Amino acid sequence: MGETTYTPQEGTAAMKWAMQATLDEGDEVIVPSPYWVSYGDIARLFGGRPVTVLCPEANGFRLRPEALETAITPRTRWVVLNSPNNPSGAVAGWDDMRAIADVMLQHPHVLILTDDMYEHLLYDDARFCTTAQVEPRLRDRVLTVNGGSKSYSMTGWRVGFCGGPMALIKGMAKVQGQSTGGISGISQAAAVAALEGPQDGLQVRAAIYRGRRDMALSMLATAPGLRCRKPGGAFYLFVNMEGCLGKVTAGGARIATDQDFMTALLREQAVAAVHGAAYGMSPFFRLSYATSDALFRKGCERIVRFCARTQ
Ligand SMILES: Cc1ncc(COP(=O)(O)O)c(C=O)c1O
Repeated sequence: MGETTYTPQEGTAAMKWAMQATLDEGDEVIVPSPYWVSYGDIARLFGGRPVTVLCPEANGFRLRPEALETAITPRTRWVVLNSPNNPSGAVAGWDDMRAIADVMLQHPHVLILTDDMYEHLLYDDARFCTTAQVEPRLRDRVLTVNGGSKSYSMTGWRVGFCGGPMALIKGMAKVQGQSTGGISGISQAAAVAALEGPQDGLQVRAAIYRGRRDMALSMLATAPGLRCRKPGGAFYLFVNMEGCLGKVTAGGARIATDQDFMTALLREQAVAAVHGAAYGMSPFFRLSYATSDALFRKGCERIVRFCARTQ
């Protein structure tokens, strides 16, 4: 089967067209958790049944091949992979991807959607790799999705692109043809300029993000009840708040869940973050550091104050 690339509007649209073109009612879509919120809903939209596979904190939120193997059934149509990950920031190394590919080689009826949106947001010694690169024999079953939203901060331009087997891409184009007029020429030209232009800005920006990540990690380490692993990529921290459960905030809110924690934090300190349950893993919350140093520092200070007063 030949391969081709495609510009199907933003990354989210690529995932939608792919699922719409391939899913039958009740087909299973394996979504490792914690996950980006849209995968499950996209599967449901087209009759699919999301099946979550836990990526434990103790394993750095990385997918364990044996857990993936156990989740695959004759009804599995897709496995969704996302590294660097939103919300955990976990990065699958070459060996992780190799082990996942070995599992996938055993299940030829399953397609693989790899969401590589955070490819260029890597820190320390983390290195990017993607499924079709690690195991070329899987290429005719892999849809590799990427876009301008994160790497080039072009979220509003709504440009995504993907590569995959010809038959799948043709199916996606057919669905899209009946759904939308497609991506504007201006956005496409802007994306080409971003991809073909100088890339040194990516490293400068990654260094700024790394500094912000490290600042937050050292501040949050002083917050009673919180602990956070150092993520290797993306621009999120996925913070464990188990130590706050059962406590009462200064404003009198009892913390029974991560959602209670976020609601009280918003009400009492005007800090907005997202509770872990939204990403399929509790008790956590996700902080985004795609904001200014000053604002992020202020937010972290308030989280520390909030936790110190929660007893
Ligand atoms: C993992 C992941 N994939 C895809 C997207 C969306 O990409 P796009 O703007 O190209 O639709 C996001 C946005 O938050 C994301 O976090």
